[in-house]
Amino acid sequence: MAISFKDRVVIVTGAGAGLGRCHALEFARRGAKVVVNDLGGSVDGAGGSSEAALKVVEEIKALGAEAIANGASVSDRAGAESIINDAINKWGRVDVVVNNAGILRDKSFAKMELNDFELVLKVHLLGSAYVTKAAWPHFIKQSYGRVVMTTSSSGLYGNFGQSNYGAAKLGLVGLMNTLKIEGAKANIRINTIAPVAATRMTENLGIPEEVFKQLKPELISPAVVYLASEDAPSGTIIEAGAGYFAKAQIVESKGVKIGQTASVEDFAAAFEKITDMTDAKPHANGSEIIMKILSP
Ligand code: NAI
Repeated sequence: MAISFKDRVVIVTGAGAGLGRCHALEFARRGAKVVVNDLGGSVDGAGGSSEAALKVVEEIKALGAEAIANGASVSDRAGAESIINDAINKWGRVDVVVNNAGILRDKSFAKMELNDFELVLKVHLLGSAYVTKAAWPHFIKQSYGRVVMTTSSSGLYGNFGQSNYGAAKLGLVGLMNTLKIEGAKANIRINTIAPVAATRMTENLGIPEEVFKQLKPELISPAVVYLASEDAPSGTIIEAGAGYFAKAQIVESKGVKIGQTASVEDFAAAFEKITDMTDAKPHANGSEIIMKILSP
């Protein structure tokens, strides 16, 4: 059955270009009313203009759907609130937040200015928290909410020159892990997308043109839209690119109980067994670890 967003109000941050634009268009095609947020700056976060968001609003209107533009920065608390307020003022509700806005300030850790470290954390991690926080009371009140975070393989696995970006991106997984627990009772579900796509963010990475062409940004949207739908799971990380989709997960090895006399030498002797990932398992929440530690 077709997945519909009729009567749903969807926020997509950073939707003036790249992936966010594709997500916004796909939600609109499925009947959603969309707030197209975009600061409209450069890839390193400098500058800003509401033109990018306005253009996508026009594209959505051409599809016969409803949309409004918001030019605020997600990393500004009042700006983040304004995105949600615009949705409430226009349509009286907000159902979905897709935290997609992002910038890069790549440099090796040795050369990185701490200002660039902070700015990247502010946009990705704090920006996503600010927008989600502003939507949260509405989600609780209506017992419905869907959030999609945007992480990256650089956060999940690391990438040279992206210590700031990687830290911010994995921080979003941590945010999801707790929000999925806190939101469960109110039917709020949080998921995370890890995209690989041809956008201005990836155009200077030296990816061969033939490959770049396959990494269509619109091929990420099916996963994002599903992860924001009524039947979405919660707490799931999906990798997506060029029509490939997979689940990523943090798992823990079976472990070894050395016991109350554990010494450095004991740990060293058991290291191989401790780090053996055969039968590794994920955990639903942090308390499961305590149960595992204390179980006989
Ligand atoms: P993009 O640069 O085309 O899009 C990002 C958008 O966010 C831009 O339109 C920009 O104006 C907007 N933006 C930046 N700072 C903002 C702020 N403070 N407030 C509001 N809007 C802001 O890049 P792309 O590739 O579409 O990136 C989208 C998301 O996907 C980002 O979070 C990025 O980190 C993530 N991502 C992208 C990958 C890729 O392969 N393209 C890989 C992994 C993650």
